[in-house]
Amino acid sequence: MEKEKIQNLISQMTLEEKAGMCSGADFWHLKGIERLGIPSVMVTDGPHGLRKQAQGADHLGINESEKAICFPAGCATASSFDRDLIRRQGELLGQECQAMDVSTILGPAMNIKRSPLCGRNFEYYSEDPFVSTEMAAALIEGIQSKNVGTSAKHFVANNQEKRRMTNSSDMDERTLREIYLASFEGAVKKAKPWTVMSSYNRVNGEFVGDSKEYLTEILREEWGFDGYVVSDWGAVNDRVSSLAAGLDLEMPPGDFENDRLIVKAVREGKLDESVVDQACERVLDVIFRYTENRDTEAVFDYEKDHEAAAEIEAECMVLLKNENEILPLTSDQKIAFIGKYAKTPRYQGGGSSHINSWKVESALEAAKEIPELANVTFAEGYQDEKDEVIEELQNEAVKAAAKADVTVLFLGLPDNFESEGYDRKHMNLPDCQNELVQKVLEVQKHVVVVLHNGSAVVMPWKDQVEGILEAYLGGEAVGKAVAEVLAGRKNPSGRLAETFPLRLEDTPCYLTYGKGFDNAVYQEGVFVGYRYYTSRKMETAFPFGYGLSYTTFAYSDLQLDKKEMSDKEHVEVSVKVKNIGKRAGKTVVQLYVAAPEAEVVRPVRELRGFEKVSLEAGEEKTVTFTLDERAFSYWNTQIHDWYAEEGSYQVMIGENADQMCLSGEILVHPTKEIPKVYSLNTCLGELMRDPKAQAVMAPFMQEMAQNDAATDMAEANANDQSGVVNQEMMAAMMEGMPLRQLLSFVPGIKREMLEQMVNALNQL
Ligand code: BGC
Repeated sequence: MEKEKIQNLISQMTLEEKAGMCSGADFWHLKGIERLGIPSVMVTDGPHGLRKQAQGADHLGINESEKAICFPAGCATASSFDRDLIRRQGELLGQECQAMDVSTILGPAMNIKRSPLCGRNFEYYSEDPFVSTEMAAALIEGIQSKNVGTSAKHFVANNQEKRRMTNSSDMDERTLREIYLASFEGAVKKAKPWTVMSSYNRVNGEFVGDSKEYLTEILREEWGFDGYVVSDWGAVNDRVSSLAAGLDLEMPPGDFENDRLIVKAVREGKLDESVVDQACERVLDVIFRYTENRDTEAVFDYEKDHEAAAEIEAECMVLLKNENEILPLTSDQKIAFIGKYAKTPRYQGGGSSHINSWKVESALEAAKEIPELANVTFAEGYQDEKDEVIEELQNEAVKAAAKADVTVLFLGLPDNFESEGYDRKHMNLPDCQNELVQKVLEVQKHVVVVLHNGSAVVMPWKDQVEGILEAYLGGEAVGKAVAEVLAGRKNPSGRLAETFPLRLEDTPCYLTYGKGFDNAVYQEGVFVGYRYYTSRKMETAFPFGYGLSYTTFAYSDLQLDKKEMSDKEHVEVSVKVKNIGKRAGKTVVQLYVAAPEAEVVRPVRELRGFEKVSLEAGEEKTVTFTLDERAFSYWNTQIHDWYAEEGSYQVMIGENADQMCLSGEILVHPTKEIPKVYSLNTCLGELMRDPKAQAVMAPFMQEMAQNDAATDMAEANANDQSGVVNQEMMAAMMEGMPLRQLLSFVPGIKREMLEQMVNALNQL
């Protein structure tokens, strides 16, 4: 609806009605106003399926919602590194929303996986903001292409479940910009979500919902967000100040106490009525974006969407190990499927994203339809309600494994090991499952492990098993997808969107994560995930970006279309990728950039581009990336902006974050100026490296050189053959020597002379 019409509607509302539009009608509906023709619309969780609950239902997933398709969760879809695939999942979700009359789906969930321990990592995409924001953008584009809204959540820095409603995520400006805000920035700018959900937590002491800086200055003024901001459910701290800060809609409304507080604040002159009008306008605009584009013909095709969920999941799984080409399995093999999850997979996480799935397809069931898996037997092996060995189940499983040619062990995290609402205590699988692997290995050499988990786990048996397939929480059709990959009907092409460390103790925030009462201190700064492991050259179990295929790819001919650029230009990078194996497959071409050595601390390399490419056997394609200033930049806290420092950057193609295979170089020149303030405490090293400063200093230096005592001393130093202080040592010492020290060490130099020089430098 046009702006004028919306404003006209608002002009006909009473103050009470306007304040009322700033909160919902109930848990899942926005208010309507019948006399003005404003409909009440529904919003629903999200993000990987619809959780449409009946009136008055809880939001914790305890009560059942209407049946829907449970698609793979964010942990899985991110591993596809495939924007088109995620867009497709979005289109299906959007279509389902139209069929179920849901105006907005509460997702994508796009917080950074700061630690593998976050209970909600299964919903989130990545430890890398670029992957996270690109995946989220694709989902938003897909859903919104069906004229249904999304809610980019949880904005911002909601990276733990522990005390998530009060915790303050405390970090420096650069970390916030480069990692945590960046995870939202790309998606907001590119895909324009209709709504953004402000998170429960505080950042540096202030509730995000109360923050004008985040909700208005950054989100709207910098990034161009034009929808409404909704509170996470129950996240409002102070309704009146949050409204002024830019939090337009409060959900759920409680007993409407806050609506009354808004009216009171306006009447008492504490809140400008135009702030209420503006929030109403934003809410109404999004309501009408949906209602004016209703697709009343839309059908929810359960069967078709279930099949799509299987296809999507098959593109997400990550093959982590395939020694002796144990996979794919063949029809002449006796195969033992062992583990409860072969029959009843764990395929989704707990909490608000919990879907009442239409049907669940297990690998065991799916195998019946797949000729390569004709000879499959099954043993349950363990239970997952409690972490305890059940001798009978274990013995039966070991027997089945011994009789088979190959054993596929289905393992994973039970529901109570990871969920919304609390964090994990460790990264281990249940002991009973790890013990089962050891027992099976005693009787069977050919073991493949299939994992169902929402976040990285420690694998003590990693070097002993021959195959590992990470299926993640793959949605209700995960079983079919797993069976097809095991049988080689689908070629795995996922790559890890998070590092699998060797041990919890290796993780960058191990010392602080989950510690502190109401303050989480992000001491690791920008060194999150692979930025940390690669910079420290640490061994990991599986690095970020890692994943195998049943075929092999080779990269060649990396080309950059220029040798140097200013930060206002861009560079085109192309690389050839060839499928040199015998079967069709997909790979993820990953582009990393390494900044030149400089004063500012930077990760050794950062992912700046990726493309998923499909190649027939023997086929070669050229993949092109366009890199602009941002690919070379860090967030500079002096200019509060992105800044690409002068220097030569390496542009690399990597198999994963650890393994670079091709490298090129580009010289980047900044046009942005970093203001400098010189003083007597400015060091000589800094001045000597700065050509502009040198030009200013030259005449002063000459004057000083005319000073006999200074010249004598310089000559003495230059001629010093004693080896006590050679020229190199002298230069190293001068590097950190403040100007004022010349007064102490160089005879004849006068303070006024230096002060004049500093003044001249400050005129630059
Ligand atoms: C969750 C959100 C969810 C909302 C509504 C909150 O507890 O953090 O992700 O969308 O509830 O269920």
